[in-house]
Amino acid sequence: MHICRVHTFADGEVTGFELGYGPVGSPLMNTYFYLVDGLLIDTGQSNMRKSCLQLLQDKQINCVLLTHHHEDHSGNALALQKSRNLPVYGHSLTAEKLRKGFRILPYQRYTWGKADPLEIEILPPQKETERFCFIPVHTPGHSKDHTVFLEKEMGWLFSGDLFMGSRIRYFRADEDMKETIESLQKVLSLDFEAVFCSMSPQPVNGKEMLRKKVNYLEEFYGEVGKLYKEGYDEKGIIRHLGEEAKLVKFITFGNVSRANMVRSALRSWKVNGHG
Ligand SMILES: [Fe+2]
Repeated sequence: MHICRVHTFADGEVTGFELGYGPVGSPLMNTYFYLVDGLLIDTGQSNMRKSCLQLLQDKQINCVLLTHHHEDHSGNALALQKSRNLPVYGHSLTAEKLRKGFRILPYQRYTWGKADPLEIEILPPQKETERFCFIPVHTPGHSKDHTVFLEKEMGWLFSGDLFMGSRIRYFRADEDMKETIESLQKVLSLDFEAVFCSMSPQPVNGKEMLRKKVNYLEEFYGEVGKLYKEGYDEKGIIRHLGEEAKLVKFITFGNVSRANMVRSALRSWKVNGHG
């Protein structure tokens, strides 16, 4: 069963496209990308390319911004660049990744599909549309290139994968908890209310939900540090802190797991020796 839904937010100013690929049963994970005043933020997964292009075919789009290079965000960027002659912008690290192309694991291929390599332009300090102005804010942690887009006047934050849930249960192996906490703190110092997340839109109380996430991660990070100072090793800390999401760990061959949350926090404690 595939998912292909259109949502409107902010009195119709923001359109959210929700796509999920599920050739057998329900999709493992749905992806949102957004259209606002001719600006497309992210492009969805290539496994749903036909639906993506159909959804957008009668829409006015002037340019595309990418929050990061991951295949569920950049999956249709080349197709849109070619078929609609659209300029695509991203962080310089996103551009580097997409120029070279990047490998994905079998579960990523199954859930989202591969992203084609492409050349993109580097984000300017701000991107104006006819009525709005979007400021890119670099927010590494989930990935090194991760960037969110703030519309100050409207109080909107297009947050890519910075949020995803206030009590997340697992990390990818390459995620950095300390950087994620710092990015969340940086973003929380900005003015906004609505969070347009790529997994779970929070048009109301979005900032509050981000605050809950940073509180949760700070607590988790602190607990890892406490156990580390008490002399527990990685295995011992994982035993203490975590009911593992076994199915997720199994499907992803361990690339996504709760143990990765512990490992990421522990890496920082070992390097910094403090919180
Ligand atoms: Fe991502």
